[in-house]
Amino acid sequence: MAKLSPQACLGALTRQQAPALFFPRLVTASCTPGPELSHTASQTRRLHHQICNTRPQTHPSRQASRPSTLPPNSNQLPPLPSTPYTRHPYTTTTTPQPPSPTIHSLFDPQTSTWQYLVADPSTHTAAIIDPVLDYTPTTRTVSTTTADALLSLIHSGGYTISHILETHAHADHLTAAFYLQRRLAAVQKVKPPVGIGRRIGQVQSVFGRRYGIDSEEYDGVFDLLWKDDEVFAVGGLSGEVMHLPGHTPDHVGYRIGDNVFCGDSLFHPTLGTARCDFPGGSAQALYQSARKLLALPDHVKIWTGHDYPVEGGPAAEPWTSVGEHRARNKHIRDGVSESEFVQMRRERDRHLAAPRLLHESLQVNIRAGQLPKVDESGMRTFKLPVKVQGEGW
Ligand SMILES: [Fe+2]
Repeated sequence: MAKLSPQACLGALTRQQAPALFFPRLVTASCTPGPELSHTASQTRRLHHQICNTRPQTHPSRQASRPSTLPPNSNQLPPLPSTPYTRHPYTTTTTPQPPSPTIHSLFDPQTSTWQYLVADPSTHTAAIIDPVLDYTPTTRTVSTTTADALLSLIHSGGYTISHILETHAHADHLTAAFYLQRRLAAVQKVKPPVGIGRRIGQVQSVFGRRYGIDSEEYDGVFDLLWKDDEVFAVGGLSGEVMHLPGHTPDHVGYRIGDNVFCGDSLFHPTLGTARCDFPGGSAQALYQSARKLLALPDHVKIWTGHDYPVEGGPAAEPWTSVGEHRARNKHIRDGVSESEFVQMRRERDRHLAAPRLLHESLQVNIRAGQLPKVDESGMRTFKLPVKVQGEGW
């Protein structure tokens, strides 16, 4: 007695079932669910025949070349047909894959900022993301060493820049967007537009008032104000804007292929997330933005805006996969609730010092990287608020 599973009925016999089926006297085959069936030896032979003589489907062109009978008692291969074998054309369907970008990541150790050059390898068209303008506060000197290194990379790679992209109005470094735009326009003969999220107007008006900057100096300085989920092209690459508020209200990320340039939302998993205590910042919004990023497939790379490597420790790392963040991000791994995150973030932000270049950064960055105008005295000046201790002033 042997039981035949439904698979065995379709020809997938087990090692135990096969001998009993080949040399049986009586076999009971039960194809569950259903009544048991009893087979006589002749029925079993028919079943054996049906199972063992079932041939895989053969390509019609190959069937055509098979002779109907083999020569008796012959070990020689049958002769090939006199007509030559004809290859039959066939078609296959492949889903076109979007090209993957070439990504250059450049770390500025002075401001712990990651800058990116994201290029379409087929057209050598590229976008710059969050470029840094050097500034030395002790001597109040602006310089372009870092931006010029980026220009060298663009030149050596033969790249044409289609966009200069800002993730937000940074408070910890000055953007080189305006400088790069002018330098690139001179070479390319076409000015690469500077893009930022459409809510930058809120940030410009808050800090324009705070620093006494005339709105004429920042209105219309950005060429592209991205709508949420807006799509753009960098050569043959497709980019998509992701609104990622929390650190600042205007904050966006840029998804290009399986890469998201997330600015200051997620940092390295050992660091967690960005602060939310700037005007318009929101820990709840950052939690939702982070979950939006972590809802992407696990293999997607999240390229961060900053890293803060410790001396003697591992080097700065530009990206971490979604899966790694979900497993071990210090602040927002899977399982951390919104209320837990908000409580942690608020408590942490209460003890953070102001960024070293806060005032200079904001006064340049709401102008898209333009410096303050030369005033009547022939100088460019930043406004720096003074904290007063004691009484009697
Ligand atoms: Fe920032």
